[in-house]
Amino acid sequence: MMRFNFKVICGLASACIVISSAARSQQATAPKPFDLIEWNDGKFIYGADYYPEAWPESQWEKDAAMMREAGINVVRMGEFAWVKMEPQEGHFDFAWLDRAIELLSAHGIRTVLGTPTASPPAWLYAKYPGIAAMDATGVRYRFGSRRNYCIHSPDFFSATTRIVTAMAEHFKSNAAVIGWQIDNELGNPKCYDPASQAAFQAWCQRKYRSLDALNSAWGTVFWGHTFESWAEIPLPWNTPFATSNPSLALDFDRFWSDSTHAYLDLQAALLRRIAPGQAITHNEMGTFPDVDYSDLNRSIDFVAWDNYPTFQKDYAQYAGVGLAHDLMRGSKSNQNFMIMEQQAGDGGWSVFFGRQAPASLYRVWAYQSVAHGADGICYFRWRTSRFGTEQYWEGILDQDSYRNSRYAMVSQVGKELQQLTPLLRESTVASPAALLVSPDSRWAQQIQPGVEDFDYDRQLHDYYDALRRAGVSVDVVFPTSSLSAYRLVIAPVLLVSDRALVDKLHAFVGSGGTLVLTFRSGVKDEHNVVTDQTLPGAFADLAGVAIHEFDPQVNEEQEVVGPGESRFPARTWSDILSPRTARVLATFGKGYYADKPAITENQWRKGWVYYVGTESKSPLFYDRLISLAANRSRIALNAHIPAGVELAVRQKGGTKIVFVLNYTGTDQTAPLDEAYQNALTGRPEPMDVPVPAYDVKVLTGQ
Ligand code: GAL
Repeated sequence: MMRFNFKVICGLASACIVISSAARSQQATAPKPFDLIEWNDGKFIYGADYYPEAWPESQWEKDAAMMREAGINVVRMGEFAWVKMEPQEGHFDFAWLDRAIELLSAHGIRTVLGTPTASPPAWLYAKYPGIAAMDATGVRYRFGSRRNYCIHSPDFFSATTRIVTAMAEHFKSNAAVIGWQIDNELGNPKCYDPASQAAFQAWCQRKYRSLDALNSAWGTVFWGHTFESWAEIPLPWNTPFATSNPSLALDFDRFWSDSTHAYLDLQAALLRRIAPGQAITHNEMGTFPDVDYSDLNRSIDFVAWDNYPTFQKDYAQYAGVGLAHDLMRGSKSNQNFMIMEQQAGDGGWSVFFGRQAPASLYRVWAYQSVAHGADGICYFRWRTSRFGTEQYWEGILDQDSYRNSRYAMVSQVGKELQQLTPLLRESTVASPAALLVSPDSRWAQQIQPGVEDFDYDRQLHDYYDALRRAGVSVDVVFPTSSLSAYRLVIAPVLLVSDRALVDKLHAFVGSGGTLVLTFRSGVKDEHNVVTDQTLPGAFADLAGVAIHEFDPQVNEEQEVVGPGESRFPARTWSDILSPRTARVLATFGKGYYADKPAITENQWRKGWVYYVGTESKSPLFYDRLISLAANRSRIALNAHIPAGVELAVRQKGGTKIVFVLNYTGTDQTAPLDEAYQNALTGRPEPMDVPVPAYDVKVLTGQ
C-alpha cells in the first residue's frame, strides 16, 4: 500500500483542510495496481451490502447461511450505523458488529467496513448545529436524511476523527475485516457557510499567492469586483440574477473537489496509520461531475463504485452504464475496480424510479461490470429495508426473505464467476481509443452552458456510444493521463484547457495520433477566461481552421451535409469553419451560412485532427465520424452488432475474454471476428454467436 504524508492547512477563520502531499506530488505517477482477486485469497469478490443492525440478531445465522449458499464471500457493513457505534459522544459500542462479523466469518464471509460519517447521529447535530451544511441561500440543513454535514466544519472533523479512530483501533486486528469504505458517496451537498468561505479564501491564497494575481486571473475588473483583501472573496452563492464571476465559480468547483479529497484524506490517513494491513476504497458515483475522481483516487487503494442501471430510461441503451464503468476505471490508471453497490432489484424512494426488469437482466448488468473491469461485485442490498426512506428500494431478497428470482440469479452468477475466476484473474481492459474527460471543461460548461440545452455529458455519449456500437473498447482518460497507449483520442468540448493539456495533445498528434476535437474547443484558458486568439485558440494549428463566426443553435433549425451525401439534423452550436490547411468533410445545410464548412480534417505532422463544428441528434452522424477517424487510426470496427447487444473484451497476454451481452427481450445473433470457445461450457461457439434474450455469452480465444 502507498504511504501518504499529511499536513494540516488552516484557513483564515477556523476551518482546516488536510492535504495529502503525496497525492499532490504524484500527479504524473501511476499508482501501484491493487489486485482485488489476490486481496480476496484468489476468489472473485462476490458480496452483498448488509445491514445487520436493522434485523433481529436471531435472523443473522439464517442470512449468513443463505449468503454462503449463493456464493457470497464478502459483505459491506456499517456505513450508516454511527449512532449504533457511538450512542453518546465518546462512548463506543462495537460488540454487535463484532458478533455480526464473527458469525459471517464462520460462514466464510469477510467484511468491508464502511466508516459511518455519511449519516451523523441526531445528538451530534443537536450539540454542534454548525456541522450541518449551508445551502447557497444561507440556510443550514437540519437533521434528517443523510449527507447533510459540512466538510469544512471543524466540529465535524473532530467527530470524524473520533469515530474513525475508534473503529480502526477496534477492528485493525480482525482478520475477517479486509478493508474499509470511507464514508458513502462523497461529493455533495456543497456547503456555503462561513467555515467554507474561509477555507475557500485560504485555498485561493495558496493558489494565487497575491491578490493582484487573483484579480488579474479572474478579471475582477469586470463590474468593479476587484478584491482588496482575501477576506472579501465570496462563494458563488445566491446573487441577484443568479450569476457570479465564471473564473471564481470554476475555482470554487476545483476547491470543492479538493475539499472532498481532503475530507477523504482525513479518514484515509487515520486508517492507514492505525490499520495498515487493511485496504481502503470509497464508493463512487460513475459520471457524477462534482468530484474529479482522477485526483481523489490517488488516495485510495482501488476504485469502487455504485452501479444502478435502471436510472437509464431505455434498458437496451447499455452505453450509459458502460461509460460510467470506463470513467471509473480510467480514474485510477485503468486499474480493475469493484462494484460496491450493484443493483439487485428495482429502485425507489417515495416512488419507484425505474421499470421492473427480469432477474435475468440484472445478471447481464452484473456481467457488464465484469466485462468493463470489475474484479468484485457487492449487490445493494441483501434484503429490502422494512424501514425508512428506502422501503421501495429492492434488495436481493424482499422483506419476507423468500428465495425469489433475484436470489436465484445471484446464486447462479456466484457459481459462474467463481468458475471464471482463473480466466479473469489478471485480465484487464485494453483499448485502442480513448475519450478525454476534462473536469475543468465540464464544470465551466455547467457554469455557462452557452446554450440552454448544451450538455457536456451528451457530447461524451455521442462519441462513446458510437465507438461501442462499432464494438470498439474505449478507455476514459483525464488531462493528467498518459495518451501513449492510444491511436485515437476523442476530446469533446475542450472549452477550458491549460498549457500542459495543449502541449500533450500536440505531442499526441505530432507522433501520429488521431484526434477528434469538437465545437467550443480552445475557447478559454485555465482561469475560465476567453482567449484573445482566433478560435479554436490553442488548437487552431492542430485543426487547421479559423473560426470567426459561430451560431448558438437556440431553435435547432440547422442541418449538416456530410460526411458523404447524407444530411443530418444539427443542434446546440454551429462553429462556421474557415479552413486554413484543413480539408472540408461536411458543410452546413441551411440559412445564411449554408455551404460553409462544418467538419474538417487536417494533417498535422504525423497525425490527423478532425474538427466537428456542431452536434447532431442522429446516431448515424456519429457512426460516420467514428468510421472516418477509426480508418485513419487503423482501428477495426464491427458494424454488424445488433442494437441492444454489447461486445466488451478483457485481455490477458494473448488471450481474449469476449463478453457478448444481450440487453434486449429478444434472441440475438452477434457476428464476431472469429470463432471462440464458451468459457462456461467449454464448448465451441459459432462465429455468428447466438445470445438468448437477457443473456450473456462469455467467450475465450486467442
Ligand atoms: C446509493 C447509496 C445507498 C443507497 C442506494 C439506493 O446511492 O449509496 O446507500 O441509498 O443508493 O438508494
